[in-house]
Amino acid sequence: MRIGVVGYGAMGQLVCSLAKEDLAAVVGLELAQKSLEDVTVPLDVIIDFSHPDNLDMIVRYAKSHHTPVVFATTGYQKEQLDRIRELSLEVPVLQSSNFSLGVILLNRIVREITPILKDDFDIEIVEAHHHHKQDAPSGTAKMLLASVEESTGYEACYGRKGVCPRKPREVGVHAIRGGSIVGEHTVLYCGENEVLKLSHHAESKKIFAIGALKAAKFLMTQPTGFYTMEDVLFG
Ligand SMILES: NC(=O)c1ccc[n+]([C@@H]2O[C@H](COP(=O)([O-])OP(=O)(O)OC[C@H]3O[C@@H](n4cnc5c(N)ncnc54)[C@H](OP(=O)(O)O)[C@@H]3O)[C@@H](O)[C@H]2O)c1
Repeated sequence: MRIGVVGYGAMGQLVCSLAKEDLAAVVGLELAQKSLEDVTVPLDVIIDFSHPDNLDMIVRYAKSHHTPVVFATTGYQKEQLDRIRELSLEVPVLQSSNFSLGVILLNRIVREITPILKDDFDIEIVEAHHHHKQDAPSGTAKMLLASVEESTGYEACYGRKGVCPRKPREVGVHAIRGGSIVGEHTVLYCGENEVLKLSHHAESKKIFAIGALKAAKFLMTQPTGFYTMEDVLFG
């Protein structure tokens, strides 16, 4: 299998080195020097860990070569997410804002327990990442928020400042940035006299690279369509 890795930053480099250990051939793209159009060898799958600005290039390449794509980049706008959905009508596409098994399970638990707790508990989401992270809140926080919104119809409240008492039908979303934190996500269910905290703590970026490679192997065997990490992990 030959993987094209778009973005040769921290994540791209990690994916390339793990793929080589796994005996997969990789073409890592340092975007300042090379784009997908410059790749002359056929690619079986693309893994993108870069920046939303590269979406056009990836969509163009995937359509013309019928190459499956794993989208791991975060920070897409709504219309860009729509384009990713459109691409999945022509090639297999998998998108996830988090490739760790723990987070995918956390999201599933949130979807299951939120309908049970929503009437008696206020729900807040807190995420923390390293000081280089560009987008906020994190893609994973948005995924958790979407799961809460789905079963409550509540609206997000991004941070609070000044006089802003909590409204009954809101979900607070808070982003912390500092140091080298790899990624922390907590969903708090705050009731009268009790708090339930569901937390995930990533200790190394390696978990995301391993998950993305697992997703790439899965995607190569799938027909055209849109997939998530839940499809990879739970079928
Ligand atoms: N889904 C997940 O599980 C997961 C996990 C970790 C990270 N991520 C996401 O993956 C992405 C990359 O993370 P990272 O930690 O590898 O970041 P990074 O070390 O900063 O690397 C970013 C890469 O994107 C390229 N890039 C940056 N800005 C660009 C722009 N405006 N146009 C084109 N290319 C640009 C950089 O190219 P140059 O080096 O040439 O500038 C570099 O190759 C981020 O969106 C991050 O949030 C997702």
